[in-house]
Amino acid sequence: MAEHELPELVRMDHRLFPEMPYPYFVLRQLYELYRDRLLVVERGGELGGYVLFATTPDGERSWVLALGVVPGARGLGHGRSLMAVGLDRLAADGVHEVMITVAPGNRPALGLYESLGFVQVDHRADYFGAGGDRLILRLPLHG
Ligand SMILES: CC(C)(COP(=O)(O)OP(=O)(O)OC[C@H]1O[C@@H](n2cnc3c(N)ncnc32)[C@H](O)[C@@H]1OP(=O)(O)O)[C@@H](O)C(=O)NCCC(=O)NCCS
Repeated sequence: MAEHELPELVRMDHRLFPEMPYPYFVLRQLYELYRDRLLVVERGGELGGYVLFATTPDGERSWVLALGVVPGARGLGHGRSLMAVGLDRLAADGVHEVMITVAPGNRPALGLYESLGFVQVDHRADYFGAGGDRLILRLPLHG
């Protein structure tokens, strides 16, 4: 994603995650750190979704920091494609495992992650602060 698209990414992130969007300054800094592992969907010249992976300094583990597709483009395979391309790149990087957090009631996301082979390894109350319960899922990679 080009740097000039950052304001559009921030707007899309607010649309995708209205209850817990990344503040602009956080997404800017994540972009500086992980732009190589930030993948976007482009639709008619506009951003239609994104995924962001961050790998730990030892290169062993990567976390999915965001995955979202705008409402009008859901159910078309974009979410699956973003994850598939990203996971291929992480495997090529030699990453051993990928972690993701998901709200317990988020059926579409859980369906996608389970179909990719992610398995629940934890259920944490208040993981993202009061009321922010999350399931933690893991996928081993065999690069
Ligand atoms: C989760 C999300 C990214 C899926 O993106 P998408 O482009 O609609 O997903 P896809 O079309 O690639 O579908 C992939 C799989 O997701 C699951 N899925 C998608 N929509 C679903 C729905 N409405 N109900 C149940 N499962 C669904 C299915 O397992 C589907 O598999 P299939 O290809 O065999 O049908 C999208 O719903 C989204 O942006 N949600 C809001 C943000 C969010 O919750 N992000 C995840 C945070 S952890």
